[in-house]
Amino acid sequence: MRGFDLPGDLLLGSATAATQIEGGDRGVNWYAWSLQGKVGDGESSLTGADHWNRFREDTELMARMGHRCYRMSVEWSRIEPERGTWSAEGIGHYREELSLLRERNILPLVTLHHFSCPQWFQDRGGWLGEEAVDDFLEFCGKAVSSLGDLVSEWCVINEPNVFANDTYMDGKYPPGHRGDMKSYFRVSRNLVLAHLRCYSLIHRIRKEHNFPGETRVGIVHHLARFEASRLRPIPLLGKFLTVYLFETIFLEGMIRGRLLPPLGWGRPRGRGRFCDFIGINYYSRHIISRFGDIRFDPSLEEERKTDLGWEIYPRGLYDVASACWEKYRLPLYITENGLADASDAKRALFIREHLRELKHLRDRGIPVMRYYHWSLMDNLEWNDGYGPKFGLVEIDYPTMERRIRPSARYYARICRSHFVEEDIHADRQD
Ligand code: FCB
Repeated sequence: MRGFDLPGDLLLGSATAATQIEGGDRGVNWYAWSLQGKVGDGESSLTGADHWNRFREDTELMARMGHRCYRMSVEWSRIEPERGTWSAEGIGHYREELSLLRERNILPLVTLHHFSCPQWFQDRGGWLGEEAVDDFLEFCGKAVSSLGDLVSEWCVINEPNVFANDTYMDGKYPPGHRGDMKSYFRVSRNLVLAHLRCYSLIHRIRKEHNFPGETRVGIVHHLARFEASRLRPIPLLGKFLTVYLFETIFLEGMIRGRLLPPLGWGRPRGRGRFCDFIGINYYSRHIISRFGDIRFDPSLEEERKTDLGWEIYPRGLYDVASACWEKYRLPLYITENGLADASDAKRALFIREHLRELKHLRDRGIPVMRYYHWSLMDNLEWNDGYGPKFGLVEIDYPTMERRIRPSARYYARICRSHFVEEDIHADRQD
């Protein structure tokens, strides 16, 4: 059979985030946001994919599909439903879920902040609040001390750049400010400071408790392939500024502990190590004609677009990952990579071509150690609602029944064998 091998130490699996799949939480800020009609077509975050009740079935599915690693998030509002009050039920729930993953030999990677927060935190000013970083750190301390024996790998904040942009510049996420540049930078600065303090906190707690396994704490960053539309000053300057404000200030801040303008100046926590791996969320390529004008290539044919119109551009994964490695020399995890594809016509090919790029990276000695496909199942795509279908597993919303998509079977064969078949329909020949 034609195809290529992937290294045995590259763990393959999938990713999700609590708000997008759990459902049923009235304490999370996305619930109030849904009530304001800001989610999809009047949809609600209460629906999710009922994962809160079906996590056992979902873990079983992962195991059946040969997934060896799983990136999930814990919902802050489930663990600390009111400021300073800890929920034994919430913690117990996550302990059960994590134990089950461990039993199934699926290595968890847990995100502490994935685009959501408790409504009480939002009401105190969210990430603009005076005590935002302290509040978040309290929660992290509790989560890590009560779950840390089951989790050695942590990401603190998912996509700080997208989060700050969508909350304060694009207004798509609560609290929905538009063009509020001042808040964008203040929130970004707080996220960087929160990461730096949380990095040391997680290491300290796991060490004090003598929790098993090597502690690894990383960042998860949305890295897109940016290109200038032409080699002219305006597009080139636009690209430079975009990369600086959307990427560099976060990477330098969180990886090297170095605040750059406009976030600040200097090293608030001194010199040291603040990151053990770089998580890359890679989806697409964007063309920049001037600062603020970022689009997908307008000449794209249908086959190269996802249902959301994002360009399918596997080579970009190679480009962004190798650039990260050249600059920071840290192990790389591909913490998200996937597409909205309701018909499932493009997903298997998408997976094959992105894994081919991973193979090239590994052949060049670049330590990409994990690949988490986004997403395990269909979910709430934030303000876009339940329309976009990112799941390896399809959710039939009226019944909440799970159905493994054909592409997920293709991926499952790869997860089990570490061999990527060229023929994506090989299983359907006999
Ligand atoms: C990323 C988010 C993730 C999901 C994908 C499609 O920006 O981290 O939650 O929505 O995009």
